[in-house]
Amino acid sequence: MKLLITGASGFIGSNFVRYLLDKYPDYSVINLDKLTYAGNLSNLSDIEQKHSHRHQFIKGDICDQRLIQELSPQIEVIINFAAETHVDRSIHENSRTFIETDIIGTQVLLDAVRHNKNIRRFIQISTDEVYGDIPIGTSADENCPLRPSNPYSASKAGGDLQVLAYIRTYQVPAIISRCSNNYGPYMHPEKIIPLFITNLLDNQPVPIYGAGTQIRDWIHVLDHCQAIDLVLHHGKIHEIYNIGAENKPEITNVALTESIIKILGKSESLIQRVADRPGHDERYSINSKKIRALGWQPQYTFQKGLQETIEWYKSHRTWWETIKKSQKFQAYYQKQYKSW
Ligand code: NAD
Ligand code: DAU
Repeated sequence: MKLLITGASGFIGSNFVRYLLDKYPDYSVINLDKLTYAGNLSNLSDIEQKHSHRHQFIKGDICDQRLIQELSPQIEVIINFAAETHVDRSIHENSRTFIETDIIGTQVLLDAVRHNKNIRRFIQISTDEVYGDIPIGTSADENCPLRPSNPYSASKAGGDLQVLAYIRTYQVPAIISRCSNNYGPYMHPEKIIPLFITNLLDNQPVPIYGAGTQIRDWIHVLDHCQAIDLVLHHGKIHEIYNIGAENKPEITNVALTESIIKILGKSESLIQRVADRPGHDERYSINSKKIRALGWQPQYTFQKGLQETIEWYKSHRTWWETIKKSQKFQAYYQKQYKSW
C-alpha cells in the first residue's frame, strides 16, 4: 500500500509512521510536512535509517494544490495529520494559519481524493475538542453536535465539516477519527505533559491554568496509532469514529500534575497557579463504543503510560532541550508569561 501521510514529522504522525512501517513490510509512505515550529525531522531519524526505501520525506504545504495534484496519481490512501494544533497559540497568536491549514488544507486534500479515483481512502485525523465542553456525567458520541470553543477547535470542526460535505456531495471515500488528548514520546514541549515533565526535570515551576479542575481523557499515542490502523483497514467508509481511553477515575489537571511530581520525586512547591486560559473547556469526554465494537481497546493504563513517557523524556534530553532553547520557543513562551 502506498500512503500519503501529512504532518508526519509532528508528534502523532511520526509515531504512526514508525508503527506502520514496522508492522507492514510492504507499505511505503510519502511524508508531506511543512516543518512548522512543530515539525521536527529528528522525530523520524531512526526510520530514515531503518526503512529509508519506504519513507520519502517531502517538505511542503497541504494547501499547495499543485503539489498535491502532482503527488495524487501514485497514492492509494491519504491520512491527514497536518494541522496547527496548539490551543494557546490559537488564542494568543494570529489564528489565521489554523484556518489555512486545518480547513483550506483539508479541502485541498479532499479535492485530490475527489479527482483521483486511485485514492480509495482518506482519513481525517480530528479531535474530541470539536464537541466542546461536555457536562459531568455525559459523553459525546459521534452524532453529537459540534460546539467548538476556541479558534483551534473551531478550525478542526471546519475541517470536519468540509469532509462531511465532500462525502455527501461527491461521495469521497472519507472517514473521520476524533481522538482524545494524546501523550507519549516526541510530543512537543508546549503541551502540558511534556512541558511539566521537562520543567520539573530542570526544577522549574509548572504553571497550572485557573483552578486546575479541567478534565482531559489522556490516551497513549500508541493506542491511538492502533486505532487508526484499525480504521485504515476495517473502518467503514463515510463513518466517524471517536477514540478515547475513557479513564476512570477521570483525570483533572491538578491530579495529572501531582502524578508527574510524585513519579519524578519533586516538590509540590513547584506548582505555580497562573491566570486561566480564556474560554477554557472544563471537560472533554467521548463515548468510544463504536471503535471498541470494531475490536479496539487501549493497551496502556494511564499510570504505565505516564511512567514510560517520563522515562522517555529523561533519556531524550537533547531532543527537548533543542526545542526549548530555540529562539522560536523562547519567544512563544515569553508571550505566554505575559498573558498570565
Ligand atoms: P503536531 O503539532 O505535533 O504536528 C503537526 C504537524 O503538522 C507538524 O509536523 C507540522 O509541521 C505539520 N504541519 C502544520 N501545518 C502544515 C501544513 N500546512 N502542511 C503540511 N504540514 C503541516 O500535532 P499532533 O499533536 O501530532 O497532532 C496531529 C493531528 O492529530 C492534528 O490534526 C491534531 O488536530 C490531531 N489530534 C491531536 C491530539 C493531541 O492530543 N495532540 C488529539 C486528537 C487529535
Ligand atoms: O483533546 C484533544 C486536544 O488535546 C488536541 O486536539 C490538541 O491538538 C491538543 O493540543 C490537546 O489540547 P489541550 O488544550 O487539551 O492540550 P494542552 O496540553 O494544551 O492542555 C491540556 C490541559 O492543561 C488544558 O486544560 C490546559 C491545561 N494547561 C496547559 C498548559 C500548556 C495548563 O494548566 N498549563 C499549561 O502550561
